[in-house]
Amino acid sequence: MSGSPADPRPPEPEQNGGGDGYAYLSGLGNSFSSEAVQGSLPANGHNSPLLCPLGLYAEQLSGTSFTTPRHRNLRTWMYRIKPSVTHDPFHPRDPPNPRLLADFHDPRAAIATPTQLRWRPRDADKDADLDFVDGLYTVCGAGSSFLRHGFAVHMYAANKSMDGCAFCNADGDFLIVPQQGKLLITTECGKMLVPPGEIVVIPQGFRFAVDLPDGPSRGYVSEIFGAHFQLPDLGPIGANGLASARDFLSPTAWYEQAHRPGYVIVQKYGGELFTATQDFSPFNVVAWHGNYVPYKYDLSKFCPFNTVLFDHADPSVNTVLTAPTDKPGVALLDFVIFPPRWLVAENTFRPPYYHRNCMSEFMGLIYGVYEAKADGFLPGGASLHSCMTPHGPDTKTYEATISKLGGPEANTPTRLSGTLAFMFESALIPRVCRWALESPSRDLDYYQCWIGLKSHFSHGKDGSDGPATTSSDDKDGEK
Ligand SMILES: [Fe+2]
Repeated sequence: MSGSPADPRPPEPEQNGGGDGYAYLSGLGNSFSSEAVQGSLPANGHNSPLLCPLGLYAEQLSGTSFTTPRHRNLRTWMYRIKPSVTHDPFHPRDPPNPRLLADFHDPRAAIATPTQLRWRPRDADKDADLDFVDGLYTVCGAGSSFLRHGFAVHMYAANKSMDGCAFCNADGDFLIVPQQGKLLITTECGKMLVPPGEIVVIPQGFRFAVDLPDGPSRGYVSEIFGAHFQLPDLGPIGANGLASARDFLSPTAWYEQAHRPGYVIVQKYGGELFTATQDFSPFNVVAWHGNYVPYKYDLSKFCPFNTVLFDHADPSVNTVLTAPTDKPGVALLDFVIFPPRWLVAENTFRPPYYHRNCMSEFMGLIYGVYEAKADGFLPGGASLHSCMTPHGPDTKTYEATISKLGGPEANTPTRLSGTLAFMFESALIPRVCRWALESPSRDLDYYQCWIGLKSHFSHGKDGSDGPATTSSDDKDGEK
């Protein structure tokens, strides 16, 4: 009990920068300090003094190699009641979660397909108790956590809080996008409340537990191997715009001291789950300092930039966070959103254009209707358009849009409201998990949304082919 003699943890903070009852530290990439008990951080610049204040253990969590250049070096020092090494040996978890994958080279588990894929939303099985760990399943991915290069896309559908256990992902960073139901996430750095409309990043190696204060919850997760998210460069946009560093919130120190016999650490390692038991909570960090921290972000704070005269901007203009590769401008994974905004382009097809992309695109919808799909792409659902697979607006959207030609609507500024879609985009080509392809929630008729697209070519009025031409002036047929 908070503040009781048996568990003298500090009272939960009531005032904060997040407005949700929890206290946060503002800023992305900052070097933070936080202590739940005054005086619990070592003084005089020491990280590991002979004896830490209040008899705490010092423990470093490294998110990058020790010798990573300073501007990318991530680590945090924790001062905890007992070190995290104090546990029984790891064993394969029983039951396992056979629908998690972290190595996509095995064609028995994950299949290459260029087909456009779409899934309807899926709720947690009402007949099963599924917490965040059991409700998590991989949809697709590329590369390998063992080789420290790649990504995975997961979804989750859970109906119970994690109880007496904490999760630790040794494979990579999780970027979690709740779509339904808040997540109350306890981490070694403190607590965060994350409703739909916000995202949260749990970096590799942090122990965390997920409670579901709203009941059943579902959402999306991207996982990156061997990289971390950062803000995109802004180029000619300048010094401001898109996601602002100060709107990212990290938790403040919070701990529990109670004896917890049989407490279970669930470790995801190479996509497999292992468990180890201990007799105390892993959330026993009284103070910490560093720049390797979990953080959350309210997507409504994103400042979109867009075209203001003609044509549709490439979706990269809506990048919230990016995990770069070694090639400039090529992302291991971009997190891109399509938020409410004004559409003002003149004489322009305002929905996204038809395209084929060397990158692969996994999309989800948090709420509302996505501007390029009138039907079928539902909140909580998903789609995947892999490398060079064509896609774009469905027939209904195309016809409705071009019907505005010549009318007042075509050039009237329109506010796109009540919608929030997002994309995980990667330079790597994903394989799709067999269970996702065989899922009853897969929309096998997805291709039909484009089959009705008809020719509007009007050059040959009698229905015959028009005359062949080699003139460069009329190559677009508009002459
Ligand atoms: Fe696309």
